[in-house]
Amino acid sequence: MNDSGSARFPARRLRRLRTTPALREMLAEVRLHRRDLIAPLFVRPGSGEKRPIASLPEQFQFSPDTAAQAAARLADLGIPAVLLFGIPAAKDPAGSGAWDPAGPVPQAIARIRRQAPGMVVIADVCLCEYTDHGHCGPLAVRPDGATDVDNDAALELLARTAVAYAGAGADVVAPSDMMDGRVGAIRQALDGEGLIHTAILAYAVKFASALYGPFRDAAGSAPQFGDRRTYQMDGRSPRQAALEVALDAAEGADMVMVKPAGAYLDVIQAVRAACDLPLAAYHVSGEYAMIMAAADRGWLDRRDAALEITTAIKRAGADLIITYFAESLGRWLE
Ligand code: PBG
Ligand code: ZN
Repeated sequence: MNDSGSARFPARRLRRLRTTPALREMLAEVRLHRRDLIAPLFVRPGSGEKRPIASLPEQFQFSPDTAAQAAARLADLGIPAVLLFGIPAAKDPAGSGAWDPAGPVPQAIARIRRQAPGMVVIADVCLCEYTDHGHCGPLAVRPDGATDVDNDAALELLARTAVAYAGAGADVVAPSDMMDGRVGAIRQALDGEGLIHTAILAYAVKFASALYGPFRDAAGSAPQFGDRRTYQMDGRSPRQAALEVALDAAEGADMVMVKPAGAYLDVIQAVRAACDLPLAAYHVSGEYAMIMAAADRGWLDRRDAALEITTAIKRAGADLIITYFAESLGRWLE
């Protein structure tokens, strides 16, 4: 029934239901909760490290031990999950640090397991932090002469990386590389190692975006030439989102992601309608940095802006929100 038009002003006054905080709270259709949130953490080698990241105020490069402390703090605030990114000691053309079982990410996974046992540990799977050229897979020269990421050669390396993280105890691996076929390759490799319980959160819908800039600073993963437009999606072609999601689901993705989030609310809504898998959205580094920078200048209120945007992401249809505001939201939300 749609009765909204049957009474008109002055009989119908929509402001009545906005009169008190209690009424507004009771009638809220969308409720952001701490359990919806996933906190990204950057992990570098060493111990006792907590290096501030210039482009991401209040975010840090941790060592495995301090990452575990951060995870425990997040758990105390009611944040259920972390998403780990590694910063290796050395880089090479293949990105071999990514699957080093002694690398910062496997070490952090093991420590978080011990120190925050209830936490859901998600490990981002990509090679760009580990390659010396900063691309998300090994390079090859295409028939047309252009140098590009070799899709099929990347698959084996990504699968190896996922197995290393799952073997270290990650609950979930999250491939963010955008190679075709990587979800299937990772599922097959995990199952081949008996890691049948490790879930895959596929960055199914990942657009090439200027909003990843602060992250690339934080992780030292900016491409040394060119850009990522031969593998990440074009924001002008949103219908490809349904195709990406369908393929990843068919290859065995347990959950899917849209990224960035705030600038792609229409895509979140469309994916929610097209797919019944749990849906995550990544409120990315640039989205965080814009709010922090404006708040720093006194141009907007950081808390109100963060709550408004993350609530909008949930309203669009995301079940889970990956955000650098997770710890703050843990304090702001009851
Ligand atoms: C690596 C990766 C990136 C992000 C998550 N995983 C950077 C990129 O694709 O260049 C971005 C996250 C953020 O901006 O917060 N593939
Ligand atoms: Zn990458």
